[in-house]
Amino acid sequence: MQKWEELKQSHLDLSTAAASSYDEMYESSSHATGIYMRYEEDLILKTTASIQQKENAVVLGSGTGRETFSLAAMFGKVYGLDFCPEMTRQAQSNQQKRGVTNTHFMTLDVENDPLPFQDGTVDFVNSSFGMGSFVLNPATFFQEIRRVLRPDGKVIFSFYNSQAFVNQLELGWAPAISSRLNHQEETLEVKFQDKTFNIPVVPYSVPEIKAELLKFFNIISISTFPSISSIFPQQFFNNDRVRQLCLEADLLLAENLDLAGGPFIVAVVENKS
Ligand SMILES: C[S@@+](CC[C@H](N)C(=O)[O-])C[C@H]1O[C@@H](n2cnc3c(N)ncnc32)[C@H](O)[C@@H]1O
Repeated sequence: MQKWEELKQSHLDLSTAAASSYDEMYESSSHATGIYMRYEEDLILKTTASIQQKENAVVLGSGTGRETFSLAAMFGKVYGLDFCPEMTRQAQSNQQKRGVTNTHFMTLDVENDPLPFQDGTVDFVNSSFGMGSFVLNPATFFQEIRRVLRPDGKVIFSFYNSQAFVNQLELGWAPAISSRLNHQEETLEVKFQDKTFNIPVVPYSVPEIKAELLKFFNIISISTFPSISSIFPQQFFNNDRVRQLCLEADLLLAENLDLAGGPFIVAVVENKS
């Protein structure tokens, strides 16, 4: 526990260092990371289309506000929560530049602080881009999300996959993904500009996270992404046909839970009735 809290400082350092350049560089710097971000964006659109009431949505680990701003076009109010004050400031500055008026950003540690919402009042929670693995105790985290969720609300969770091909193969090259599990250290190695940050993470296999989620939610869908694109080096993806081939293969493999080879596990869930 003490080690977790100590390592968490490296995550805060990474977020502080990345806040001002995150929007320009994160998606474009590593091919697999970029296609994963677009995969999540599509899933957010599909999931929110099936929600009837769209009063409010909450983004956990909102960073510079990327998903918060896309949700603002669909929901009455959208709250972005992040534990890094620099990320909150960047998101607020982005909000001003965009002229968006229905987003609210707050600095809050979602694993230690209660969510600042009344019971049963939130229509949609987005906890994507590995956020579910940045929490040491999933039961407390899930319980708090379930508390604030409306009976017919939905949640998207993303976790790091301990069984991903990229985490299990001995590759003789650097793969086109910005973060990789370091099994010995139980950390996530994130390359940002010329620095490497080792941040604390709890990786799961698909059966492990399924069992945890089912204690609190009904699972609507579960997938892993992107199995193939995350194992090759960045220069492979300079070729259009290779990019297309790997993307199509990854989309086909996403729901194949026997292979479950993608570095991210993405789950769409709803409240247990
Ligand atoms: C990979 S970034 C994703 C940012 C944004 N969701 C996106 O997809 O562009 C993860 C974010 O989660 C935040 N974060 C990590 N642990 C957190 C915690 N315990 N509470 C709140 N925010 C956290 C980080 O500061 C960072 O901004």
